[in-house]
Amino acid sequence: METVPPIVKFTSLQKRYGVGPVILDAINLTVAPHDFISFIGPSGCGKSTILKLVSGLSPGSTGELTVMGVKPREARDRQAFIFQDATLLPWLTAQLNVELPLRLRGRPEAERQTIARKMLELVGLAKVADYYPRQLSGGMKMRVSIARALTLAPQLLLLDEPFGALDEMTRNRLNEELLAVRAVAPFTALFVTHSVSEAVFLSNRIVVMAANPGSLHAEVAIDFPYPRRPELRGHPDFQAKVNEVTRLLHEVEIPPSS
Ligand SMILES: Nc1ncnc2c1ncn2[C@@H]1O[C@H](COP(=O)(O)OP(=O)(O)O)[C@@H](O)[C@H]1O
Ligand SMILES: [Mg+2]
Repeated sequence: METVPPIVKFTSLQKRYGVGPVILDAINLTVAPHDFISFIGPSGCGKSTILKLVSGLSPGSTGELTVMGVKPREARDRQAFIFQDATLLPWLTAQLNVELPLRLRGRPEAERQTIARKMLELVGLAKVADYYPRQLSGGMKMRVSIARALTLAPQLLLLDEPFGALDEMTRNRLNEELLAVRAVAPFTALFVTHSVSEAVFLSNRIVVMAANPGSLHAEVAIDFPYPRRPELRGHPDFQAKVNEVTRLLHEVEIPPSS
């Protein structure tokens, strides 16, 4: 009974790189605008490839993929990608890094500054706007990266293990902040992670993937209402979801070759 047009729709999608083996097979997935979907699964199962397909960086082989009703490449302007490595330019301040996407589009300086300032405030970094990346912690760099991704008000955000390099406390904080930012500047999220608790905290849907070839093994609905408080992590229902996803992950784990 879905009446809202999907943001992303995979139909029997298969992916090979060139003439190589099948990397992703029979991918069927419909993403609604309000979705925050986490992808979790063994290394090499094709999580990053899913995001690359959606972003238009890499084409599908057979089947169909639409993003906001059009080909992924045609929807590029309405989506943004965040990687684990914050990829900030070291010679630009936080403020100028955040302004960059606007500068590349030739937006006037006053507008750039206003928007970048607002985004930095949103991620709690207004005070360090004039710092260079080397003066920022890993968590702060990732916040700048999020602020930069949001300057063009994307409808869809693709996040490939964005917090994977951070310690658990920082990661938890950033999870909470990402949801807070999303409450103010809504976007659909496709999020790749190895952390089950991160996936449960952030998502309304978790897709567990299997490898060889990459496929969607199972989906778990996470129905806790937003906004989600940090205390949710201590709730027995939260732990039950973590256990459920962990059990599904064990089903797809590649047995160690000996
Ligand atoms: N550009 C590429 N060319 C050829 N093979 C690739 C390329 N990128 C990824 N692969 C292969 O596709 C598979 C899935 O990779 P990836 O999507 O990065 O998995 P994950 O993110 O789940 O670890 C791996 O076997 C990887 O070696
Ligand atoms: Mg990956």
